[in-house]
Amino acid sequence: MHDEQQTLPRPAFHLTPERNWMNDPNGLVFHRGRWHAFFQYNPEGSDWGNMSWGHASSVDLQHWDEHPVALRYTAEEQVYSGSVVAAGPDGRLTAYYTSVSTDGRQAQSRATSDDDGLTWQRDPENPILDRGSHAFRDPKIIRYEDAAGFRWIMLTVEAVERQVLVYSSTDLRTWEHVSTVGPFGPTGVVWECPDLIPLAVDGRPDEIRWVLLLSTNPVGDAQDPDGSSMSYLVGDFDGSVFTPERAELQRLDHGRDFYAAVGFDRAPDGEAVILGWMGNWRYAADLPASPWRGAMSLPRRLSLTTVDGEQRLVQGPPAFVKERLAAIDPTTVAVSSDAVDLVLDGDGVVELHWDPSITGELRLRLTADTDGVALIVHDPAAASLSVARSGGAMDTVHPDFASTSIVPLAGDRPARLLLSLDGPLLELFVDGGLATVSDLVLLGSGRPTLTLASERASPVSVAVAVLDRAPAIDQVHALA
Ligand code: FRU
Repeated sequence: MHDEQQTLPRPAFHLTPERNWMNDPNGLVFHRGRWHAFFQYNPEGSDWGNMSWGHASSVDLQHWDEHPVALRYTAEEQVYSGSVVAAGPDGRLTAYYTSVSTDGRQAQSRATSDDDGLTWQRDPENPILDRGSHAFRDPKIIRYEDAAGFRWIMLTVEAVERQVLVYSSTDLRTWEHVSTVGPFGPTGVVWECPDLIPLAVDGRPDEIRWVLLLSTNPVGDAQDPDGSSMSYLVGDFDGSVFTPERAELQRLDHGRDFYAAVGFDRAPDGEAVILGWMGNWRYAADLPASPWRGAMSLPRRLSLTTVDGEQRLVQGPPAFVKERLAAIDPTTVAVSSDAVDLVLDGDGVVELHWDPSITGELRLRLTADTDGVALIVHDPAAASLSVARSGGAMDTVHPDFASTSIVPLAGDRPARLLLSLDGPLLELFVDGGLATVSDLVLLGSGRPTLTLASERASPVSVAVAVLDRAPAIDQVHALA
């Protein structure tokens, strides 16, 4: 279905493999000063298959070094998603992953590494947890401590049943099933890649809520053409049972390309940092292989804030983005109904501030050298932000690739938007991260132009940080 001529420009500050297929992040762990990301990987090709764990690491979450394949598939075992923890005083790395056997059975297996994640020894007793199920997968190990002591918690899914199974262990080997979450919410999907993350409400350490992350993928006949997406639930967790405040899934990212995100074990300073796959099962197999196929999102820092009496997840950009923006003096651009073009001098981030009560509707149009367009419209009257991707370059990927995502906004207070564009990866942090939109956009490999236009003449503050080059040559050319 896709145009064989098209290749995607390689992202500069996101994790992508040098070549071949990648999907979910696996085994995210901060260990001995490095952020390690393992990931679903086909060592032999650019299609999903031969599932193995690839491996990359980074000191700053911006530049990634790719390492040899960490857990390779065998004739008897496909290695699906899972997680890694740095356990014990020496921080030995233990991985749990889903083994898929030739008869399709999915069970949880274990491996350990004595060289900081480079090579792994599978446990001779594998699989460690087997229910005879064909949809039991994606073990995520987290830590839990209360007056009764410390224990490891494993979250897995029974994907088709739309359930999260919770297990508890004190030795990372013997697991007791302690509770089950679900099913609830929309039917016609499988649940995948759960995580459970404690966060302080409004930064108050005595007010902890647990946030369940879930990825859902449509299955069966008449599937939702929007494809796979992520949701979250805020609740309490007592070490056994997760009790949601409302059994209503909230959308975690409003775009089409954010999936399977989970958190890092042991992120410094107790921060909650997640990484997601910027892809969608609806069309992932139709994207051009360039020769890499699959990319991770920007790492995101999570927090919880109270809005209208309810806890909402806030997703912030990583420290390297914030630091670069802090070093830049914003420019004030006079925007009106006559479009203003900003030619971006490479991949990077743009931070915009404006007052919607003056501008009225604000339109941001991203283009480069294909006919692909990403159009972002901030509409204070409708209290929404929409992100539409269109054009032949997008249509050739898949009939459902062109899309419009609508984000509800919280009123018409001064608006803030952080836009990150790195090759085909577009990520928006709206209203300080109260909402995010992640979309693949096929704009070509030329310099992108951001065209601004507003309903009424108004100043818009713009800060541009190019992230693929040294800070000294950051520039923004106002051409209009
Ligand atoms: C989610 C997922 C997981 C599974 C993996 C296989 O994207 O379907 O449930 O473990 O991908 O690659």
